[in-house]
Amino acid sequence: MQTKKINIAVDGFSSCGKSTIAKGLAKELGYTYIDSGAMYRAIALFAYRNGWMTDTEINESELKKHISEIEISFQANADGQQETYLNGENVEKEIRSLRIGNAASRVSTLGFVRKELVRQQQAMGKKKGVVMDGRDIGTVVFPDAELKIFLTASPEIRAQRRFNELQAKGISVSYEDTLANVRERDQRDTTRAESPLRKADDAIELDNSYITIEEQLQWAMNLMHDV
Ligand code: DC
Repeated sequence: MQTKKINIAVDGFSSCGKSTIAKGLAKELGYTYIDSGAMYRAIALFAYRNGWMTDTEINESELKKHISEIEISFQANADGQQETYLNGENVEKEIRSLRIGNAASRVSTLGFVRKELVRQQQAMGKKKGVVMDGRDIGTVVFPDAELKIFLTASPEIRAQRRFNELQAKGISVSYEDTLANVRERDQRDTTRAESPLRKADDAIELDNSYITIEEQLQWAMNLMHDV
């Protein structure tokens, strides 16, 4: 197994367990886990709060003017879980709603938003030892990542997982709305002009619809032996 630290890219559709496998790998390897989707969510929250975004529109020129004022960071809580901070404020719970998830998917279509976040993400990976999950990590953020994983699972299974997750967090939502949200985001994430979700040519694909979290982590750890 590789002793020198590497960067690991985990990409795939929304709610297909990217963060579970990425966090598991980071823990096993003593690496830093970075949730790039949380960064798009934080930008969306910032835009909503300032009135530059509604459920139907985005004031692109205002958001662009203020994009450099947004500082996103991560800090571990008492349980060791990474939480997202927007300009020093813990916004972890607020960014996890379906509304902000959908808004994140919309702001993520904007070139200037992607450019700024990719710059921040690449800086985070400079020293290696990072497991980052997202949509464009293996293709754009870390095209040279030594290990690239691409996860898939059926929309129904992903909706069920997301639904369970939201329920556990006390966020009330129906399964039907969750499934519609998953489908809408898949469509937008794969068809947008700027860095659409796609598997990097050198990524290794796993459909995790019918395997357990433990099996999935074992599969990924086995890949480390070949790096
Ligand atoms: O992974 P997530 O559901 O938290 O991501 C929220 C949205 O952000 C998702 O719909 C697409 C976008 N995103 C992206 O475009 N690129 C990334 N690297 C991560 C997320």
